[in-house]
Amino acid sequence: MNKRQFATAVAAALVLSAMAAPAAAQQPLVIKFSHVVAQDTPKGKASEFFAKRAGELTKGRVKVEVYANSTLYKDKEEMEALQIGAVQMLAPSLAKFGPLGVREFEVFDLPFIFDNTEELHKVTTGAVGKMLFSKLETKGITGLAYWDNGFKSFSANKPLKTPDDFKGQKMRIQSSKVLEAQMRAVGALPQVMAFSEVYQALQTGVVDGTENPHSNLYTQKMHEVQKHVTLTEHGYLGYAVITNKKFWDGLPADIRGALEQAMKESTVYANKIAREENDAALAAVKASGKTQVYTPTSAERLAIKKAMVKVHKEMESRIGKETIEAVYKETAFDPTKL
Ligand code: LMR
Repeated sequence: MNKRQFATAVAAALVLSAMAAPAAAQQPLVIKFSHVVAQDTPKGKASEFFAKRAGELTKGRVKVEVYANSTLYKDKEEMEALQIGAVQMLAPSLAKFGPLGVREFEVFDLPFIFDNTEELHKVTTGAVGKMLFSKLETKGITGLAYWDNGFKSFSANKPLKTPDDFKGQKMRIQSSKVLEAQMRAVGALPQVMAFSEVYQALQTGVVDGTENPHSNLYTQKMHEVQKHVTLTEHGYLGYAVITNKKFWDGLPADIRGALEQAMKESTVYANKIAREENDAALAAVKASGKTQVYTPTSAERLAIKKAMVKVHKEMESRIGKETIEAVYKETAFDPTKL
């Protein structure tokens, strides 16, 4: 090769590498989305839906990798991982924001504060929902959406029908001081534990019982190690989909816009399937014949309600009276009228 040929070859190589550069730049941006429940649950399905729509709406420029069932991180670890940027998205239960220092979220855990999902949605889509997300910003977290799961049932190895039945029962709870107070209000012994450890703890008797929506109970096979389930619907369990603020703010505007659209669609989907998923899970629990499912009478439910609602007042100093009252206003809840 003479000098001239060499110069031409070098120029051609430079052109080729310049052409290759945009291709390399088009490597999809990977978003790791970690969560702790089974894939076959409202949250599991909604996160997969989001991953699909995010890929479609960004035309492949974003790839969302969903890690279900605590395969990447457990409850506490995932919050830390999000803050340091090791994962980009999570959807923790609303009951898990206290340890982060945003105690107002525990308003959602107050027993019997919501009668149905419509009341709950008034709160999440209204001023309280917005206020709670603004509190996250100071922790380096951006709240993207609220996703439903559903109302919780109690389970144990004995029937839980009256407040007295709870006495001395070791009950696993999520990391919420309100849930702790709720259990203590009926003489139970609350134990905070990561979701991934609950099945084994129930199986080995480390705890006697727990509370969860039926989709979680069923997909974690908790019903196989709990002799009794009581359909109390005493409290709500749902999610805040969150992301690392720095990561989110640093996204190109068009990508962020597409992801916001994907999140909007996923929220509609999540809230649409949540009820069906929980109903199907309850039917499967009943069909398994492994646990007795009991529907409390209205008098039994009222007695449990009366025993637990006193927690609302007790938790005022933790959650904030204004936040509790703002929720009461949306849901027309009056603790003096039971
Ligand atoms: C639990 O820990 O019981 C739930 O928060 C799990 C979940 O994410 O639904």
